Formats: sequence, C-alpha cells, structure tokens
Amino acid sequence: MDALPPQSVEALLEALNCGAMLMDRRGTILRANQRLMSMLNMPDRCITGMMLETIYDDEEDRKRIRERIAQFTEAREGEFHLPAADGRAVPVILSSRPLGAAAPLSDYMVVTAIDISKQKRAEAQLAEENKTIANLSDTVLEQALDLKHYNEQLEQKVRARTEEIRAANMDAILMLAVASEARDEDTGAHVKRIQTYTELLARELGFSGLEVERFGYSAILHDVGKMVIPDSVLKKPGALTAEEREVIKSHTTAGERILSDADFYKTARLIARSHHENWDGTGYPDGLGEFDIPAAARLVRLVDVFDALTSPRVYKPAWSPRDAAQVIVEGKGTLFEPEAVRAFMSLFERGALDGQVALAQG
Ligand SMILES: [Fe+2]
Repeated sequence: MDALPPQSVEALLEALNCGAMLMDRRGTILRANQRLMSMLNMPDRCITGMMLETIYDDEEDRKRIRERIAQFTEAREGEFHLPAADGRAVPVILSSRPLGAAAPLSDYMVVTAIDISKQKRAEAQLAEENKTIANLSDTVLEQALDLKHYNEQLEQKVRARTEEIRAANMDAILMLAVASEARDEDTGAHVKRIQTYTELLARELGFSGLEVERFGYSAILHDVGKMVIPDSVLKKPGALTAEEREVIKSHTTAGERILSDADFYKTARLIARSHHENWDGTGYPDGLGEFDIPAAARLVRLVDVFDALTSPRVYKPAWSPRDAAQVIVEGKGTLFEPEAVRAFMSLFERGALDGQVALAQG
C-alpha cells in the first residue's frame, strides 16, 4: 500500500454511493467504507485485515471468493450476498476490478456492493402474487370445467328422457290405432303404411322435417274413431242404409273427440276429423273445400284411398299399383288436392312407393 496514500483511498471509498472495499491480491481487506459496514451491520473497520473469504461461513461462498481472486486482473460483476452480523444474507450486486492496469495499482482491487434487498423483496412479492393469480386461474378453470361437465351430463339426461317420452308416446299412438283397427281389417300394418306414405308425400311437398314427423305419427290415428262404431255397422256385409252410412261417417268426429286436447295430438285431431273431406267440398263431416281442409288431412285423404285400393279386402282383391294410381290421378281436383296428386305421382313414377305397396299386397 506504499503507493497509495491511505487518506486518498479512504476518501475515494467513502465518496462512493454504495458499499465499497479495497482488497489486495491475497484477498485481504485493506479498507472498507462505512456504507459497507452498515450493510454488514458491523462496527467500522472490524473487518480490516481479514481475508474476505473468512467473513463467509459457507464453503461454497468461500470457494467463489477464491475463484474470483484467482482471476484478479479481470473486471467482474454479478449477484452475490453479504453475510450480515445478524445472520441475514444481504443480496447485492458485487462489482470488482483492479484499481489500475499497471503495478502497483494493478495489485489492488476495488469491490463495490449495491444492496438489492428491496428489488429482491419486490421480486419475491411479485412471484408470490403471480402464483396466487395462477392458482386462482386454475381454480376458476377447474370450476368452469366441472360446470361444463355437469351441463353435458344434464343435457344427456334430458335428451335420454325426451327420447324415452317420445318413444312412449309413439307406442301409445300405435297401440290406440291397433286397438281401433283390430276391429276393422288388418292389425296395424295399414296404419303404419299410412304413416310412411304420409311422410313420403309431406317430404316431397317440401314440409319441414318436424312437420313430416308430426304428420306421420298423427296420420296413424286417422281412423281411431272407428272404435266407437258398432260391429253390426262396421262389419256389415252388403249395402248400408242411409242411416248406417251416417254412423260410419261419425268415425271422423268421434276420432277427434277421443284424441287428447294436448298440442302433441293437435294434428291428429285435425286429420281424424277431416280425412274424408274432398278438395271440391263434397266430403264429410264439414264439407270443407280446398285449403280450408287442414294440410295433413289433405295428404291422408289421398294415401288412405291408395292404400285401401292396393290392399286385399274380404270383398275385393288388391288392385295393381298402376290401377290404383290411375284412381288417384282421376281424383285430382275433385277428391284430392292437385299439388298433392302431382307430388304423389312423382313418388310413384320414381318407384319410391314400391316397398310399401309390396307390404300391402303381401
Ligand atoms: Fe277413415
């Protein structure tokens, strides 16, 4: 230290706005400023003359100091810590460089220490807050997923239940129709064909999928009123009297009466009442004409005649599909809605009805 006037070095170290010390090549602390001593929480000058590494307890820390001193001529900067007397490790940025490039200044190293406790605390707090937010996000996400899963399960249950109710309704409709038909001719096969024909025709005419389905299941019930017609009239061989014909006609209004007021049966009630109305107004029970006749009833009017003709009866053999279709064409504008006849014939000519006709003819 002969070349360094102690006062000027001390003045230099004290002038720095951070902790600072002067060290020789062996790592001996020659001077330490007051700021450094207060960071260490130690009395002034108490470390003067000590090897820097000896103020650290941890062997790893000591090793780092020795490595640093071995590279004495290099300037270095990095995060480290100072061991305070109260046991705290004070986080610092340590910068170290030789005092000069040539001897004797190059035999001394100035080490400065900037306390970064506040930054470290802020950093730790930020990390903690981020962790809290991340945990919170995870919780919210988990809850959202749980809710989504629950909703899906609920929707699935509702779908299953709706399908159950729908199937039960369809069963009830068919049972009711079969119960009424059983007294008449065949056992439900006729009404199922009427359902299929009606659906095909409604689809051909451009009705929506839901309407097609509703027209179809409602058509099944078109003759349900026949269950209140006495066998003596319904199964009478030979000609009917005028009075008996009126009794037969009453199966339309009887069917409407039998069916529930519920929305689900609304179309079925319309069909039951009006499936014997003619396009030209000559039908029964109300003598309605053209578009006053409910749409579904206009379709059932047509397919009911076609199925009756193409099915065998005790009093007649089954007609050929072509002959039956001829009757439909001849009824265009008198018995049947012209547009329905056109659509029906289009289905017929395409062979779309062949499967059902084959079923009717056994
Ligand atoms: Fe009928």
